[in-house]
Amino acid sequence: MRGEALSERSSKILDMLRDSGDFVSGQDISRCLGISRSAVWKHVGRLRKRGYVIDAVPNKGYRLAEEVDLPVSDEIKRFLRTESLGCEIVFMNQVDSTNRLAQMLAAQGAAHGTVVTADSQTMGRGRRGRDWISPPGCSLYMSTILRPGVYPAAASQIPILSVLASVRGVERMAPPMDLRVKWPNDIYCNGRKLSGTLCEMKAEMDRVEYVVVGTGINVNVLPVQGGLPISATSILAETGTSVSRAGLAASVLEEFELLYSSWLSRQDLSRIMPLWKKYSMLLGRRVSVSTSGDRIFGMSMGISPDGALNLEMEDGSIRPVYAGDATLDSLE
Ligand code: BTN
Repeated sequence: MRGEALSERSSKILDMLRDSGDFVSGQDISRCLGISRSAVWKHVGRLRKRGYVIDAVPNKGYRLAEEVDLPVSDEIKRFLRTESLGCEIVFMNQVDSTNRLAQMLAAQGAAHGTVVTADSQTMGRGRRGRDWISPPGCSLYMSTILRPGVYPAAASQIPILSVLASVRGVERMAPPMDLRVKWPNDIYCNGRKLSGTLCEMKAEMDRVEYVVVGTGINVNVLPVQGGLPISATSILAETGTSVSRAGLAASVLEEFELLYSSWLSRQDLSRIMPLWKKYSMLLGRRVSVSTSGDRIFGMSMGISPDGALNLEMEDGSIRPVYAGDATLDSLE
């Protein structure tokens, strides 16, 4: 079900309760909004249905007792400071895949920067045909539509920008963690996977029509309870702290916009190289990369400005690998 945006009046009531941090009388609200007290009561009912916990006490009024932790448009926009990313935010309580829906919206003409979020996904998609387990109430599932107007080859660098944006977004919102990026677009913490990115695009031979950047971050979930793979971790599992999913979505989008606009002017990754090195999990280590039908072993020498993973072969030559799944070599 699609989550409708809050009406202007409901939002205003929410703002009043937030600003006060205490009880606000029904009379004050009705005077300020120019509506009857029974209309105020109806708006409070709608807010409660959204999950906000609002106390109502006779002779005192209303008090916001608990916020909602849903990555809904109003909540994300409360935190968001971007020019284009998140210009339009579509929230779904449940969807098969935010990437699938974002692709459909993009095909119908949705603008650059349109974002789709969901509380849960029934068929969350991972890279290479894998599933992305997406239980409700706990994690971030977000897909962003980009219309970069570049050659398809250049667009293949976008996942690298996206994973770095997620690292920086998580760092802004959560207590310190040892976050590592694994080429091409995973985030690991203490050897377990915290986040993944799935980028899908529609292109002609010489021009990208749109790219959908799908970001999954395990946030307030304990992996076993959430039915996540044994190899997964989350912000909660690593830090013992819960994080606002809406705040996290806004941070990731802000970081992504910065990295993306800087990248777009040159369409190569040279500027973000120091950042990639800082977080790289594979740099200087022996890795095995499985590509379609092949497995390549080598020493990871980092990425090149076009996004390839550079592997040093036994004979000292450097081999760029453009797609695949990298793992640390067990014989290392
Ligand atoms: C991976 O590591 O294999 C990529 C996982 C990507 C998951 C995200 S969750 C939001 C978006 N919608 C999807 O169906 N997949 C991506």
